[in-house]
Amino acid sequence: MQVPFNDLKRHYDSMAAELDAAALRVLRSGWYVLGPEVSAFEAEWAAFCGSKHCVSLATGTDALLIGLRALGVGPGDEVLTVANAGTYTTFAAHAVGATPRYVDVSPDTYTLDPALLAAAITPRTRVIVPVHLYGRAASLEAILAVAAAHNLPVLEDCAQAHGVRWGGRHVGTLGVAGCFSFYPTKNLGALGDGGALITNDAALAARVRQLRTYGWGAKYRTTVANGTNSRLDELQAAILRVKLQHLEAQNERRQAIAARYSAGLAGLAVQTPAPGASEQHVFHLYVVQVDAARRAAIQAALREAGIGTDIHYPFPDHQQPAWAERYADLRLPVTERLAASILSLPCYPELADAEVDAVVAALRTVLSADQ
Ligand SMILES: Cc1ncc(COP(=O)(O)O)c(C=O)c1O
Repeated sequence: MQVPFNDLKRHYDSMAAELDAAALRVLRSGWYVLGPEVSAFEAEWAAFCGSKHCVSLATGTDALLIGLRALGVGPGDEVLTVANAGTYTTFAAHAVGATPRYVDVSPDTYTLDPALLAAAITPRTRVIVPVHLYGRAASLEAILAVAAAHNLPVLEDCAQAHGVRWGGRHVGTLGVAGCFSFYPTKNLGALGDGGALITNDAALAARVRQLRTYGWGAKYRTTVANGTNSRLDELQAAILRVKLQHLEAQNERRQAIAARYSAGLAGLAVQTPAPGASEQHVFHLYVVQVDAARRAAIQAALREAGIGTDIHYPFPDHQQPAWAERYADLRLPVTERLAASILSLPCYPELADAEVDAVVAALRTVLSADQ
């Protein structure tokens, strides 16, 4: 059986009639950027998350970048974050002239280890950016407590965590703001790029709104110098409005797939995700750990068996060639160990139980042949 790592065609097919109607509505409307669909989506996404404001943007990276800028983070400042989440926050920090400072992650949740946070804060620290990685909420309670003690804002990276809650509240509403990506593979994905920042702070939302449209105070009147063009278009907004109606059901299906994997893989030489409260994990990705020395062979054997896998992410931020020199002395033992041993298995709402079982069976064969 062929099991692709992801299959966006199936995803589209599962909602085709509604998506076609939404797209046609926009095509025929004659309004394509920042119009009624965008306003409606912003209102609906804010309501879904229980946030007062939502400002849609062009990408999730822009949500982080413009979020940092709107918080006044700039040259000389440090952004405290993790190094295992695909460099997006690093890019955003660099773009505003700030320096990322990395904290290691917890070996259980793969998210920012709150026990290491206080010691990483310096007089230059301006903001903390935890990442709700793979769809699991970071340890918000502890992170927010440290942040409050040091009077630092928490900007949540929710790009992989649509619909995740902490204590009944949606991620992105616990810190000062939450940054989302709507890249097509995300739990809530557009048909192209998209992003948003949610916040309960009206002044912050207004600054983000201004920064996304050339720094305009009024039309053609630029009143802040560091604005840009970062807009969601009408077509993506209309698509996202349709998909939002399916998000909860699709997240539940992802959780069921994850539970099936974890049960099926029990007893094998793979470490499955640590259990946790179901509201706190929507399994954007189902990530296991395997023996680092054998990972490449395991991945190749699975490929041979028709099973697609991926690695999120193989290179920690501090070891990226573009800037590794700066971090030559930095050791992040858990982050580095995970980068060498993690493996993402297919996990998307349209995956059939039989396909999950096929992945488990293939992994069992590969691991036993591997002993
Ligand atoms: C954790 C995380 N943060 C930020 C981003 C950036 O989002 P985008 O690709 O929309 O710029 C992504 C997705 O790519 C992500 O997975």
